[in-house]
Amino acid sequence: MTITEANPVLSFLPAPLGGRLINAVQQADPAEYAHLPALELSDRSYADLELLATGAYSPLTGFVGEADYLSIIERLRLADGTPWSLPITLPVTAEQAAHLRGTVQLTRQGQAVGLLDISEQFAARKSLEAREVYRTEDAAHPGVAALYAQGDINLAGPVTLFEVPRGDFPSYHRTPAEVRGVIEARGWKTTVAFQTRNPIHRAHEYLHKVALELVDGLLLHPLVGTTKGDDVPAATRMEAYEVLLHHYYPQTRTLLSAYPAAMRYAGPREAIVHALSRRNYGATHFIVGRDHAGVGSYYGSYDAQEIFEHFTAEELGIRILKFEHTFYCQTCQQLVSPRTCPHDSSQHLILSGTKVREKLRAGESLPPEFSRPEVAQVLRRAYSQ
Ligand code: ADX
Repeated sequence: MTITEANPVLSFLPAPLGGRLINAVQQADPAEYAHLPALELSDRSYADLELLATGAYSPLTGFVGEADYLSIIERLRLADGTPWSLPITLPVTAEQAAHLRGTVQLTRQGQAVGLLDISEQFAARKSLEAREVYRTEDAAHPGVAALYAQGDINLAGPVTLFEVPRGDFPSYHRTPAEVRGVIEARGWKTTVAFQTRNPIHRAHEYLHKVALELVDGLLLHPLVGTTKGDDVPAATRMEAYEVLLHHYYPQTRTLLSAYPAAMRYAGPREAIVHALSRRNYGATHFIVGRDHAGVGSYYGSYDAQEIFEHFTAEELGIRILKFEHTFYCQTCQQLVSPRTCPHDSSQHLILSGTKVREKLRAGESLPPEFSRPEVAQVLRRAYSQ
């Protein structure tokens, strides 16, 4: 007997949010649409187009309209009540909006990559969005800065994508349907997904391995879309994930795959979309540790865990594995958290991302308690170039 998505009763995979994996990828000859008005996409909007069209953002079928926009901002839900926490919008300037009606071709460097059927145009509520989604109106927050810099009008409507872009990491760039296929082929009944945007360190590894004691497989799902300027580039991070997996992980229980989204740095709100979209990729569990998707000190260390209390387990359809701050303890001689270690902070090795970057820039090595030597070598090489 084979277990397929067509037979959800027999499949171990979670149903996508909304019950159906959206697929709006349709091969087409871009020349056919050359007569339509064109809209050039930003990196973030192109990533959103892909996530929408491949079903990573199921049940969304396109950029959200005003009713969903306000409902997401005010209630953490779509207008129909489905949990959703980030408004996936397509912002344009008022001048652009005036020329865009009906079906438009979405372009990258002038080449059509997809279509948008405009159902609605509406004004962005930038202050409201900043306050509610990012919990701050401070323009120093990278997500808020991007919001303030974008156009004032949002275009809404269903999208079509002509071809899945395989980006800079073609062998790792899989759609939700493809990741689901791998999980099924491997026979994992439970899969924990791990979102990350930072170079992998031993605290991350500890979270993975604790989780792997409980579930069958690990989907290591680094975000490879746009990040803020001082985050480590995705290419370096991918190389670090590869060497870590090669040296320290059971190959048959691990899947490295690229997650094409851009970072918004919306902390708790982003954690929800990170979890729901990983359900769409077929994960049954999702790790949320300390200050998930956070930046600076805009969010409390565990805000991104507490926000899940807005939803029932059935609504989420993916179990959240929550972890406290994890670090190395010299006395315990292992990775620990406040839940497992009785020693005081003088015994604890804690390195912030900023500190790590400083050390790398100065050509210093990272301590083995913080980073596996193979990973440290990849990072040092990248910073010495
Ligand atoms: S994030 O923006 O993708 O959240 P990062 O790659 O640093 O950034 O974190 C990936 C995941 O690991 C998040 O769930 C985060 O909360 C968790 N995490 C990172 N470092 C630690 C740590 N030292 N202790 C506990 N959780 C951590």
